[in-house]
Amino acid sequence: MKKGLLKLLDLSKEDILAILNKADQLKYEQKHGIQQEYLKGKTLAMIFEKNSTRTRVSFETGMYQLGGHALFLSGKESQIGRGEPVADTARVLSRYCDGIMIRTFAQSEVEELAKYADIPVINGLTDFCHPCQVLADLLTVREHKAVLEGLKLCYIGDGNNMANSLIVGGLKVGMEVSVACPEGYDPAPRVLEFAKGDPAHKFTLFRTPEEAAVGADVIVTDVWASMGQEGEKAERERAFAGYQVNGELMALTNPGCMVQHCLPAHRGEEITAEVFEAHAEEIFDEAENRLHAQKAVMYLLMKEA
Ligand code: CP
Ligand code: NVA
Repeated sequence: MKKGLLKLLDLSKEDILAILNKADQLKYEQKHGIQQEYLKGKTLAMIFEKNSTRTRVSFETGMYQLGGHALFLSGKESQIGRGEPVADTARVLSRYCDGIMIRTFAQSEVEELAKYADIPVINGLTDFCHPCQVLADLLTVREHKAVLEGLKLCYIGDGNNMANSLIVGGLKVGMEVSVACPEGYDPAPRVLEFAKGDPAHKFTLFRTPEEAAVGADVIVTDVWASMGQEGEKAERERAFAGYQVNGELMALTNPGCMVQHCLPAHRGEEITAEVFEAHAEEIFDEAENRLHAQKAVMYLLMKEA
């Protein structure tokens, strides 16, 4: 965790649990009005090359609550959008700021940024992964279920950034992970490779949502077309028909099964309005926990020892 949070593959189980424990503490402090200016005078640069509501607001608010400042750099309006090399942006921001959060397309851009930056880099979503979101998901599941180890996490839908991070994060903390996605939309090969090497053999990839959902304690889904895939919408609607979290699917899960969705959600596509509303408390707890999980990440990366 020294250089940043680029992907969950880089973290140990202990790193993940340390983030969740710190998040619990910071959440408690905030709810009880306890002063938490641990990053007083520090600045986080936030680079966005894709849209965002939760990531932007939770990082900016979180930094403010920790006594620091966050600044928004849009890919379009900064020189990044005009082709300034990432290596130069990294070295410039390192002279002004104390941390960088980046949301972009290629994972290699985040890795390149971290390679040249002298300050911690945090991945706020790439096409490959969404580590901050999955830390918030794990935090939410642990709050609701008290444990993570031994629970069955089931992901239905596209083998995208969310699927990749859920597989890695879930297996690392000792969960059983099942995924259902149509052929041609599998999780990333390096993630499947990691899952195959899981010593506990707790990962299974299915082609039908029903097989994956049996006995689940948490069902997670995400949009059929992610940011940058808008042009594939019609083709994806055909490919993912049936990959929906609905009442029939929930009937196959364990009693008290939770539902998580990183949002934004498309009702009638990956999830029905009924299931969404029945689990809205858990889903909005998940959204709130972005704030607490990311404050923990920033605390652990940016606070001087
Ligand atoms: N879940 C998530 O990352 O939301 P935003 O795209 O709104 O940041
Ligand atoms: N898979 C989605 C997640 C959005 C938070 C996307 O990349 O658009």
